[in-house]
Amino acid sequence: MVSLPCMSSAKEFISSGFSPIEGKTTWASPSNIALVKYWGKYGKQFPQNPSLSFTLSKCVSTTRVAFKPKEKNQDKVSFSFLFEGKKEIAFHPKIESFLKRIALYCPYLFEHDLEISSSNSFPHSSGIASSASSMSALALAIVSMERIVNPTMSLDYFNQKASFLARLGSGSAARSIVGPIMTWGETTSLVYSSQTYGTQLSEKIHPVFKTFQDTILIIDKGQKKVSSTLGHQLMENHPYAATRFAKAHAHFASLLAILSTGEMDDFIALVELEALTLHALMMASNPYFVLMQPNTLAVLNKIWAFRQDTGLPLSFTLDAGANVHLLYPEENKAVILDFIKTELSTYCQDGQYIEDQVGAGAKML
Ligand code: PMV
Repeated sequence: MVSLPCMSSAKEFISSGFSPIEGKTTWASPSNIALVKYWGKYGKQFPQNPSLSFTLSKCVSTTRVAFKPKEKNQDKVSFSFLFEGKKEIAFHPKIESFLKRIALYCPYLFEHDLEISSSNSFPHSSGIASSASSMSALALAIVSMERIVNPTMSLDYFNQKASFLARLGSGSAARSIVGPIMTWGETTSLVYSSQTYGTQLSEKIHPVFKTFQDTILIIDKGQKKVSSTLGHQLMENHPYAATRFAKAHAHFASLLAILSTGEMDDFIALVELEALTLHALMMASNPYFVLMQPNTLAVLNKIWAFRQDTGLPLSFTLDAGANVHLLYPEENKAVILDFIKTELSTYCQDGQYIEDQVGAGAKML
């Protein structure tokens, strides 16, 4: 995926010469957790700054697309959608606008009826955003249709196109294709970084990060208070936007060095700063939002005290919500899981948390 030069334009992803066929394809695609956050976008889902994430392994969406040629209405996309075995009309507008948006690059979508069915390995109402895993799984299935007709398509091109399409559904989905670490957004510190698709980090990665743990504390199962769409919009006139975007480039460059050396104190300091910066940006937006809950803050204090007492490298990152992602090396798993069970789970809604870890990326089933 990284050996190709950056695709110079989106035109390279427009497919042609595809005769309608019948078939099906199923993909399981993971969620990811950003260490350097994407927050702020412009145009057709281009990021204002580079981001970098761990690909997860257990939080996955599994999406099956069955397709058959259609005779009529070749100016429209046509699909049915089942979520966890049931018709879910609520998801239709998002899927429809995604399919319409990507049809420019996949004109064959107009020539097929699609039956899409999807499910998540994590509970729907857990406050975990499923857009990265679900949009990447759907994008992978759609590029697979193309690969059935064109089996000589290179893996690099396949992954890049899947990431490119996933990005048009949800920006962070561009980083859910391969593992263990993906980046998205052009920056001078990584020659193969791209604005239009995510790239697998192929720099030296210290072995500790290849099996890093991410235990997600479900502090609040509710819907996010601020949708990412609104959050990104709030960055448009944000008084600290320019400083933030410059900082993100600097954090990205520092993190590349940390990921190669495995320097844990630096990792912790940078990742926690990024998480708190994301929340600080929202607190300083107009209108402003506080996305942490009292239990979020209680957990952060517990983590800092635990680190002080034990010297173990437990750190956290946050999404645009109240849940806490606990990050730590696999070698400390037993002790830290015990701490989570006995102390931190009491701050979780219904005691719920999800044990995940860095993974290898999406899989075709
Ligand atoms: O992909 P979106 O538009 O839902 O934005 C994701 C934003 C964050 O999750 C807060 C950060 C990130 O880089 O994943």
